[in-house]
Amino acid sequence: MGKLEGKVAVITAATSGMALATATLFVEEGAYVFITGRRQDVLDKAVKAIGRNVTGVNADSSNLADLDRLYETVKKEKGKIDVLFASAGFGEYLTLDKVTEEHFDKTFNTNVRGTLFTVQKALPLFNNGGSILLNGSIVSIKGFPAFGIYAASKAAVRSFARTAVVDLKDRGIRVNVLSPGPIDTPALDGLGGDKSQLEALVPRGTMGRSEEIATAALFLASSDSSFVNGVELFVDGGVAQI
Ligand SMILES: NC(=O)c1ccc[n+]([C@@H]2O[C@H](COP(=O)([O-])OP(=O)(O)OC[C@H]3O[C@@H](n4cnc5c(N)ncnc54)[C@H](OP(=O)(O)O)[C@@H]3O)[C@@H](O)[C@H]2O)c1
Repeated sequence: MGKLEGKVAVITAATSGMALATATLFVEEGAYVFITGRRQDVLDKAVKAIGRNVTGVNADSSNLADLDRLYETVKKEKGKIDVLFASAGFGEYLTLDKVTEEHFDKTFNTNVRGTLFTVQKALPLFNNGGSILLNGSIVSIKGFPAFGIYAASKAAVRSFARTAVVDLKDRGIRVNVLSPGPIDTPALDGLGGDKSQLEALVPRGTMGRSEEIATAALFLASSDSSFVNGVELFVDGGVAQI
């Protein structure tokens, strides 16, 4: 029997990278998953790759009307949510002197506003005893060059989890942050930095794989972590721990 047998999971921004690997694993473990992404062709491909027990919803996590449409679909198809992995995030390198309003707004709209409303709008459908995971980052506790706005946004995500735990305690809903280190996904290609520099930060000398985030997400989503609440779980090969 799978660890998520009969559970309904919503995973945002799951058309690639770690959230796609997580959706794939959750289905293997018995869940039905709803995944989102903004490009329809990429979304269709991800749905096909997962293959069964999956619905794709074209939705931008920074757009509140899209989030409403996502949850209307979940309500119509399954009527409940047991697990939410809010994984949509945006980052780009800009040093402090180059930060613009547009850069700030885009980063905070997706990572902070989008994450908050992804959680809030899921609550009416959430089963008591469910599990919420927020995708953070090791940058919440680090100062990497030219990454200040992204880092501040992920620190805000980490903060939300603390309050959400107490706001949701009467419903037994757990809220944890999964904070990856450098994971080899298309997002890193988009950043345009030197990957070998990131690898050099990792004690084992290679970046993480999306599947290594998926197994940590499964732990936080399932009853294996029933007494784990409000933590920031760093899945970073040790980068931010040494
Ligand atoms: N990779 C890393 O090293 C790393 C480290 C720490 C934290 N993170 C965090 O991990 C999360 C996922 O990263 P990843 O590296 O796995 O990403 P990824 O492989 O680039 O995949 C992200 C997917 O999400 C979709 N997406 C992006 N923005 C979206 C939005 N606003 N609404 C809905 N879908 C959206 C994209 O498809 P569309 O463009 O079609 O929407 C894309 O296919 C982010 O929160 C990121 O900040 C990543």
